Parts: sequence; C-alpha cells; structure tokens
Amino acid sequence: MNYNIAVIEGDGIGPEIVNSALEVLTAVGKKFKFDFVFKKVRAGGNAIDHTGTPLPQETVKTCLEANSVLLGAVGGPKWDVLPGHLRPEKALLGIRKELGLYANLRPARLLPELKDACPLKKEVADAGFDMIIVRELTGGMYFGESGRREGKYGPEAYDTECYSEMEIERIGVTAFELARTRSKKLISIDKANVLESSRLWREVMHRLAEKYPDVTLTDMLVDNAAMQLVKNPKQFDVVVTSNMFGDILSDEASQITGSIGLLPSASLGETKRGLYEPIHGSAPDIAGQDKANPIATILSAAMMLRLSLMQPEAAQFVEDAVSRVLAKGLRTADIALPGEKALSCSAMTKAILDELK
Ligand code: IPM
Ligand code: MG
Repeated sequence: MNYNIAVIEGDGIGPEIVNSALEVLTAVGKKFKFDFVFKKVRAGGNAIDHTGTPLPQETVKTCLEANSVLLGAVGGPKWDVLPGHLRPEKALLGIRKELGLYANLRPARLLPELKDACPLKKEVADAGFDMIIVRELTGGMYFGESGRREGKYGPEAYDTECYSEMEIERIGVTAFELARTRSKKLISIDKANVLESSRLWREVMHRLAEKYPDVTLTDMLVDNAAMQLVKNPKQFDVVVTSNMFGDILSDEASQITGSIGLLPSASLGETKRGLYEPIHGSAPDIAGQDKANPIATILSAAMMLRLSLMQPEAAQFVEDAVSRVLAKGLRTADIALPGEKALSCSAMTKAILDELK
C-alpha cells in the first residue's frame, strides 16, 4: 500500500510541527506495512514570498491528486499588511473550497492526564468532557458577498451570512451520522432569535431530525453555547454549527482541554480525500525555536489514518502513544504547569516515536 500525501508546511511553526507528524507517519507505516510518498507544496505566506500568490495552482493540483493533505498553519504578521485577496489565510479558504471540504470535524476532549491544565473549576474538570464540533466550512460569512461602499455615514464595509438549504442539509447529515456512532445526541448551534440564515438552519436541522429518530436534536443559541461551554462542557457530545460560529466556539473548546496545541482537525467532503491540520495557528512568536507542541499535528495525522486512509489500527496506535507520553508527565511549554520542565518540539516528537517502537 502506497499513500500519496500532499504536505503543506506553511508558515511560522508549520515546518516544525509538520515534520514531527511526518516522522510519526513514517514510523507507523513501517510498523503496519504501508508506505507514504510525501509531496511538499507551498501555500500561505511562503507561497506569497516565492510565487506572489497565497495558493499557487500547482498546490491545488497536487492536493487534488493526493490521497490526503496534511497542513501545518499559515499566516504571520509579515503578511498582515496585504489586501484581503492576497493574505495567507486566503490559501486555506481556497483549498477548502477547491477540494469541496465542507465538513470540518474538531474533537475537543479533556484527556484525564491533562486535567491539571484545564482552566475550569476542579469539579468541572473532574467530570471531564469529550465533544466533537462539526463546523460547516465552505459557506456562510466566509464566502458570502462582501465589499466596501459609500453608506449613509460615509465609507462602510459588509460581509454577508448566506446559507442554502443544500449546504445546511449536507453538514446536517454529517453531524447526524456522526451522532449515531456516538451518544446519539446532537446539539445544533445558531442565532435563530436574530438571524434569518439561522432560522433556515434550524428548519433544515429539524426536517433532518425526522429521518434520524434515534438521535435527539437540541437547539442552542450561540451566545448561550459560549457560556455553557465553560460552565458545563460535559453536556456536549456532537455539535453542529456554521462556519463563523464554529470558528469561534472551537477555539473556546480547545482552550478548556488545556491547550490549543493539542487539538487536531479533519476537513472532509464527498470523497475520501481530506485535509488534516491542527486547529491552532502559525504562532510566529515561537517559530523556529523548537518550542511548539507537535501533538495537534500528530493527532491530525492519526485522524487522516482513520478517516481517509482506512487504517484505524494505525490511528489508534498513534493516539495511544500520545496518551502514554502525556501520562508519563511529559509536557511541552504550552501544557507544562508553572515550574514544570518543558520539552522542546523535537524532544516531544522523539518521546512519541519511542512509544511507537
Ligand atoms: C481556523 C482558522 C482559519 C479560519 C483562518 C486562519 C482562516 O482560524 O481554521 O479556525 O478562520 O477558518
Ligand atoms: Mg479559527
């Protein structure tokens, strides 16, 4: 078995964390008897520097031809001054759109080993939580009509939240199907008390619920959801929401697991090909210093093994190795308690590789 993986290191800490994940994939491939061909391509700030555009056509082509895509992170202050269509973030939005990756899965689980790193009250942390946010990824305000114009009070800018029934329905199906494999509880998050697009969202989710009588659907308003996430995160299992709300809530969910440096994500469409990336950004402040936490990217590679490459045992093997390393008390700087010794990115990678032997 030979898997073709398009690899986008991206900017900032991207190259460090991606290379950690590639080492892990190579090791696990050896163990489970499959091979990888990694094809590195550019996107984001470094693509702007080298080719003048955040998402070169060649990158899109390589991603479309690959079994899956592994991505580090894009962006940095250097490129913040560029106009919207030339920003590194445009690369990420472009890949999601070109590959038709409308379903973004963001699991947020409090690992028992990391309870101490959870910023919530002790009883809340002790209760634990294990949720997965299903974020719509190719619609909503990120892709709606936007622009600048002269308004009543002078120059103004606008972005539009627009969802078609088709877009809501397909992300709904992803979420209901996933809920079926877990606790059979689905929470749909919207702002239906104010937004028309949310009222359509709610209508479509309820229509779908009739086809999934075994799944209990609950609606929750996004402001309340933001509060409930820190008050009682255990109540959430599968959560489905729009692109914008999912972006915000998944950062919040990540922080209560101890660190955003731990959370992987998968972006999927109609085919098996997915895009796998940590949910954190490029952390330019610590780039090149061997300080980043590689775990989110390594766990993203594990998600790739499970969801795109159909290697569930290999995926489990990687996830178990990460858990064992954390259980031993090994920590990178982002999850170390004050006074605790922190491992570098490469030392953490080595500790995980040792567990895979
Ligand atoms: C994420 C990021 C991206 C998003 C940015 C970098 C475009 O925040 O993946 O959550 O907003 O989707
Ligand atoms: Mg985000």
